[in-house]
Amino acid sequence: MKIVFIGGGNMGEAILSAVLGKRLSQPQAISVSDISQSRRQHLEQKYGVTVMSDNRQAVKRGDVVVLAIKPQNLAEVTAELNGWLKSAQLVLSIVAGARIDTLCRGLNHRCVVRAMPNTPAQIGQGISVWAATAEVTDQQRGWAGSILGAMGREIYVDDEKYIDMATAVSGSGPAYIFLFAEALIEAARHIGLPRDMAQELVVQTLLGSGHFLQQSGKEPLALRRMVTSPGGTTAEALARLEKGKFTELVKQAVIAAYNKAKRLGE
Ligand SMILES: NC(=O)c1ccc[n+]([C@@H]2O[C@H](COP(=O)([O-])OP(=O)(O)OC[C@H]3O[C@@H](n4cnc5c(N)ncnc54)[C@H](OP(=O)(O)O)[C@@H]3O)[C@@H](O)[C@H]2O)c1
Repeated sequence: MKIVFIGGGNMGEAILSAVLGKRLSQPQAISVSDISQSRRQHLEQKYGVTVMSDNRQAVKRGDVVVLAIKPQNLAEVTAELNGWLKSAQLVLSIVAGARIDTLCRGLNHRCVVRAMPNTPAQIGQGISVWAATAEVTDQQRGWAGSILGAMGREIYVDDEKYIDMATAVSGSGPAYIFLFAEALIEAARHIGLPRDMAQELVVQTLLGSGHFLQQSGKEPLALRRMVTSPGGTTAEALARLEKGKFTELVKQAVIAAYNKAKRLGE
């Protein structure tokens, strides 16, 4: 599979690294076009891929064209590529908020996959939700699934509306978890734990709880009840969190992110 990346920043590199790591493609079959000289140099030296600065020349080199530029650069890049794509090429966009219809019109191209990965993709632990136009062939769906699957897990949806929803949950989600980690570390230090120990306790607690939740196959509520003895320390803490409307606050935060994701696509 020949792949071209338009934009070789954090996420572009995460996909590139995963694709090479899973041997879905070879360095000589991968090209990256990026306006940043330092990014081009970094990717060429680290992965041995072909780098260039001309997006139009770059897209000639791929079966799959991965759009990994920032949303604010999308209009300029789609205008630049309009008319330069062959109908059999697959465009795989990870640009947040960019609707399939906007991509198709901007590029004058029908064969498009829109995906929403998340940052743990950078260590192969991501989750991506993706949708495709009717023109995307079975073979191309296979390519998209394997590229996204190389970075962790992937879920195909037949309605694009779920991508905006996933943006608010799994796309932005790592930041919610990091904020919770920051707060827990700060609280741990406040009650007297040394910084390094606070960090280690919190990171391992998040990791262990996530794996436990996944491997036990139980609902979070059931696991929470298991660690919450009546009148105990956990019950005391959870009562405080609920007094501060923790669950409602999380809901409001996700709704705010979802509304923003929908506005971005308008
Ligand atoms: N990071 C995430 O967790 C995440 C998750 C889901 C989706 N996404 C989406 O992934 C996309 C990329 O995010 P990122 O974090 O990888 O951004 P990034 O690190 O800023 O990477 C974008 C790269 O594209 C380059 N670029 C800018 N304009 C260009 C142009 N006209 N032609 C070619 N290259 C150009 C940038 O160069 P300069 O830096 O010099 O401008 C930069 O190297 C975004 O649309 C984002 O919404 C990201």
